[in-house]
Amino acid sequence: MEIIAKTLQGFEGILAGEIEALGGKNITPLKRAVKYEGDLELLYKSNYLLRTALRVITPFREEIVKNELQLYKKVYDYPWEELFSVKDSFSINPIVNSEIFRHSQYAGLKTKDAIVDRFRDKFGRRPNVNPVNALIQLDLHIREDKLTLSLDSSGHSLHMRGYRMYPVEAPLNEVLAAGIVMLSGWNGTDTFVDPMCGSGTILIEAARIAGNIPPQRKDASFCFQNWTNYDAKLWEKIIAEADANIKPIECEILGFDKSLQCVKASETNILEAGLENKIKVSRKDFFLQTDLPKCLIITNPPYDERLKLEDDMLFYKQIGDLMKKQLTGSAVWIFSGNMEALKHVGLKPSKRISLMNGPIEAGFYKFEVYEGSKR
Ligand SMILES: C[S@@+](CC[C@H](N)C(=O)[O-])C[C@H]1O[C@@H](n2cnc3c(N)ncnc32)[C@H](O)[C@@H]1O
Repeated sequence: MEIIAKTLQGFEGILAGEIEALGGKNITPLKRAVKYEGDLELLYKSNYLLRTALRVITPFREEIVKNELQLYKKVYDYPWEELFSVKDSFSINPIVNSEIFRHSQYAGLKTKDAIVDRFRDKFGRRPNVNPVNALIQLDLHIREDKLTLSLDSSGHSLHMRGYRMYPVEAPLNEVLAAGIVMLSGWNGTDTFVDPMCGSGTILIEAARIAGNIPPQRKDASFCFQNWTNYDAKLWEKIIAEADANIKPIECEILGFDKSLQCVKASETNILEAGLENKIKVSRKDFFLQTDLPKCLIITNPPYDERLKLEDDMLFYKQIGDLMKKQLTGSAVWIFSGNMEALKHVGLKPSKRISLMNGPIEAGFYKFEVYEGSKR
């Protein structure tokens, strides 16, 4: 079966590596997605274990459609009753990039009509369309005249890990947080610090990576569980195997924030993630840090978009100043959507990775201060 895992821009390579580790075959990175082949077991594992996937879909039908009528007819002709029952609710997520079909929602509506009409013509009844939490979720993709219909096996975005009980302003998407930890190449053994940890997303994702803890909860539900071919035994086996692979977290993981509310948010989320003895969070202003151990730092400072700074250039310059004074020998990765401010750190990054934070262009830069180095 062909499988496509969707991701965020910049994580295609990391995701392809995760898929390979799970046993995927014929892996092809695409734009914000990775295509591969595998069986039901790999599909279930992909949902449960891929840290940088947002959704996992399985394409099942490709057609050429030149106009609305053809779209309706080709969708109508598909034996939908073999995929789901008239009692199941369904939804359609249309993604259209075409000169012929200019409005995604309209193409979605035509597709929905064709499916509903087929059921009504065959059974005298129609399935319910439910835009939220439908049992069967379809992905409709039209690129120019090429129509691809896929089943969404996830049913919700996989960034929803279930531990964010206490959100703060400007939290990072969990997939993004896991992705940057993986991109940094952290070995899971060096001390890990986020000195501006907000609600603790980077810390929690790092701890889960270090402990080989699945990114999803075992009680999470996915749309593939509503499919006619759902194999509950296989699913239980996958969960049991993943549990058996969890290992002790050997390293120290430390978080700080100057805001008491953020420290509380982190503690709540860490508790919810079951990591209360694995991550320590305290209130501290980054600029007053004097005794940080040698470590790997990954942090996401405010960047004046959602969290206002009095002087963002000065703030980033001060981060660089502190690094030069206090962080010799440590690697510091900064993820920020303020590209201009990143230039003011005053150190030459040893790596620059371009990413996006939602619609905002972002940089993930590595800075290293060696003994005796000035820049
Ligand atoms: C963009 S948010 C981090 C969000 C976090 N990555 C998350 O997922 O929730 C930036 C954080 O930096 C903190 N902060 C700002 N100035 C600080 C300083 N001088 N020292 C420590 N924390 C600071 C803010 O309180 C805020 O929580």
